[in-house]
Amino acid sequence: MTALLAPTAAPPGPDAEVEYQPRAIEGDLRGRHIVSVEQFSRPDLDSLCRTAAELRRRTRVGDTSILRLARRKILASLFYEASTRTDMSFQAAMLRMGGEVISTSGGVQFSSVYKGENLADTVRAVGCYADVIVLRHPEVRSSYAAAYHLDQLAARLGTRCVVISAGDGVGEHPSQALLDLFTIVDRLGDTDGLRITFVGDLANGRTVHSLAKLIALYGARGAHLDFVSPGSLRVPASVAAYVAERAPDITMTETDDLEEVLPDTDVIYWTRVQEERFADEAAYEGIADRYVMTPSVLARAKRHAILMHPLPRKHEMGTPADHAILDADPRSVYFHQMQNGMFVRMALVAGVLGAHV
Ligand code: NCD
Repeated sequence: MTALLAPTAAPPGPDAEVEYQPRAIEGDLRGRHIVSVEQFSRPDLDSLCRTAAELRRRTRVGDTSILRLARRKILASLFYEASTRTDMSFQAAMLRMGGEVISTSGGVQFSSVYKGENLADTVRAVGCYADVIVLRHPEVRSSYAAAYHLDQLAARLGTRCVVISAGDGVGEHPSQALLDLFTIVDRLGDTDGLRITFVGDLANGRTVHSLAKLIALYGARGAHLDFVSPGSLRVPASVAAYVAERAPDITMTETDDLEEVLPDTDVIYWTRVQEERFADEAAYEGIADRYVMTPSVLARAKRHAILMHPLPRKHEMGTPADHAILDADPRSVYFHQMQNGMFVRMALVAGVLGAHV
């Protein structure tokens, strides 16, 4: 007679996934899932920025020792939404550190997702093969669910794979905010006393949500945040409340009038209206052209301001002819953002893998 095997652990309750909270970084990125900027403290941010700057320096001088940082490690790129920069900069980050990258041949539409597999099962499959999963998914908190299921898998198999969020719907985009903060500090030296103006689709723009919270966590003293948007695309109340609670020293203004704030702004953070998030095409058409950055708009900004954009850009930065003029303006730093993104992601990936830079 064969004895029945006793289950090794009681199955988790139905709310366990919903209630999942990521661990704070607390000075050690090793083995951490990265799903929210809320996991980072000022010392964690200082350390990440130092590491990113160091990796940038070593990459530029051709220091080949960085090739051992991710040697024999595998990063899986799992994107359920479109991406150029985030996807490719994570891949490049891994390759520059000597690691390997996998993805489903032909993209996620040719994975078992096409057969109807749910996120929990797909993530656990990938978690069996990779050390790090970079996940972009249209649902808010999808990366939290992925982290939860990877922890369950680790408990079952005894091996560890972590998830780094590459954007969860209209929720957060932590690695973008980290590269944005790095770029602000790199270009302007600090965040103290800065006037930072977010413009555009602040309701759906996940990069704005993460960056506003991150500036609060960074502890910018005497900073001011302007949220400039049409009334229908205002920054979520939860984001403003988070900033107010974390950083009472930071003042905030909401307005639909760019002219009111532009001449005093140090950091102009322009965003795309997230057309793909609109259920109603007419609603999108109604506000798509509300804020357009053109050379004549930039002419009214401070001489030492910086113009940021997470990209991609469409008509919210005018025509290709406008792009050419904006791109040549020394205040435009979106190319720096793109390149810094790779270095910040190298620092993040090295960190979660436990590699010493
Ligand atoms: C952003 C995103 O995906 O949220 N892009 C990016 O990752 N750099 C911004 C956008 O798509 O508008």
